[in-house]
Amino acid sequence: TRNRAIAIDGPSGAGKSTLAKALAQELGFLYVDTGAIYRTVGYFARSRGVDTKEEAAVKALFPHIRLDMTYSPDGLQHMILNGEDVTEHIRLPEISLCASAVSAHPAVRAFLMEMQRDMARRYNVIMDGRDIGTVVLPDADVKIFLTAAPEARARRRCLELEQRGTPEPYEKVLREIEERDYNDSHRAAAPLRAAEDALTVDTTYLTFDESRDALLRLIEERI
Ligand code: C5P
Repeated sequence: TRNRAIAIDGPSGAGKSTLAKALAQELGFLYVDTGAIYRTVGYFARSRGVDTKEEAAVKALFPHIRLDMTYSPDGLQHMILNGEDVTEHIRLPEISLCASAVSAHPAVRAFLMEMQRDMARRYNVIMDGRDIGTVVLPDADVKIFLTAAPEARARRRCLELEQRGTPEPYEKVLREIEERDYNDSHRAAAPLRAAEDALTVDTTYLTFDESRDALLRLIEERI
């Protein structure tokens, strides 16, 4: 029998990764963070001094990229780039925009597609990203489009950065979120949008626990 797949898409900061991680643990599924894959390519391009907006230049890097995903016993996904664990490096705020830039190139999306589908073939997954329900796993058992007002997402991001010891001003975080939203939803290749059969959940006024319970109910009704 084929594996189960839950797709969670939505803009940055809507709570996708935190919620998906918690749900994965609850359901015994593997959590696959596809943003981390794009971030790793963005990180590599930046470290090579390549203009991330130039598709041909980014494409020329592919033969030099060996990507692996491994999981620690606590379920944390690690990104291994050419044998080096870059999991921490790709979380830096400057990598977010690099990831957004490289992810707009069709060649990059094609390059990373198989890796994502392969995970879904091998495991029961909760996969989060921007185009999981629309492009990567159109046959997912449950599709959720998770969203929240930009201000709520900026506030959460600020809190997260603070806890990580790398605080950033709210205005700057909000501006970056709006810029990334714009890039992600206006690009030609796999723009951010809800799949027709996706269930939309707006977390603006929901706590973490409320969001998790709402998603869990939706999922359990369907698998
Ligand atoms: O989810 P996260 O913020 O880590 O993703 C970083 C960037 O990677 C996003 O802004 C988006 O442009 C891109 N991305 C994508 N498709 C995905 C996941 C992420 O284009 N499935």
